[in-house]
Amino acid sequence: MTATLTRPAWTTDFEIETIDKIIAKHAPNFPTTRVQEPRQLTTAEEFEKFYRFRIGGAAHDLYIVQVCSKIIDQIPDPDLQLFLSRQIGDDGAHAQFTRQRVWELSGQDPTKKIVQEVQNHWEFMGDLPIRNWLGFIAFELHYELHIVAQLILNSRTTKIVDPVTSKFASQTILPDEAVHRFGVLAWWQSKYDKASQTEKAEIAAQLLELDEEGQRRRNPYLQKHWQIVHDATGAEIAGIGVIYDAWRREVLSYFLDIPIAELPQLVSVSE
Ligand SMILES: [Fe+2]
Ligand SMILES: [Fe+2]
Repeated sequence: MTATLTRPAWTTDFEIETIDKIIAKHAPNFPTTRVQEPRQLTTAEEFEKFYRFRIGGAAHDLYIVQVCSKIIDQIPDPDLQLFLSRQIGDDGAHAQFTRQRVWELSGQDPTKKIVQEVQNHWEFMGDLPIRNWLGFIAFELHYELHIVAQLILNSRTTKIVDPVTSKFASQTILPDEAVHRFGVLAWWQSKYDKASQTEKAEIAAQLLELDEEGQRRRNPYLQKHWQIVHDATGAEIAGIGVIYDAWRREVLSYFLDIPIAELPQLVSVSE
């Protein structure tokens, strides 16, 4: 029996189990369920911090839309194109909802600020997402997969919320994002599983290198972003870097079908 056949299927249950295993091992201070019922935004300062946090979220989604729109024309694979058309539609709708909600609450159109932050993503990521198909996979790993543990932990420790945003997140964003993760994995496996052992070793080495480059490029942004999340929602971020690093190893191990212990040492988000 090969390693591939013994691996559990990648499901949302598998994600939660893996993240809880990581918490138990590396950061037992983090809760495995939601700790307290969050309260609503109250003060003007809280609203300002919330806008900043959500503008960052809208920029993340709009940047994904822009990258995927470039790729859809560059890789003429109908399976990928059909998947990307869904991802573009969903992440575009997430950005649009967020933009409208901030506009509604603040009375100001946040588009200019969102666009500035999208530009920032293009600057720190450089051409990595559109360099070649493996650069694009590294992009998808970073923008859809590697952030999952942090998002789940945030949802468990958030103290302040906008209920309208929370409802959209649980009813629309969460299920859409699961589809995106499964879609990236399915397309990746459709290529990787067909490769010979020699080709696989070559592809794995290249993807690891590109994923490491992505990590180095994203580190300053992630540090800053987590602080923005903490300031806006009160979510716990102390020790989250260790969980991020361990989760990223799990994702890469699964994608490359290489046991965790056999992966090289990786760049840490805290570097
Ligand atoms: Fe999204
Ligand atoms: Fe997404």
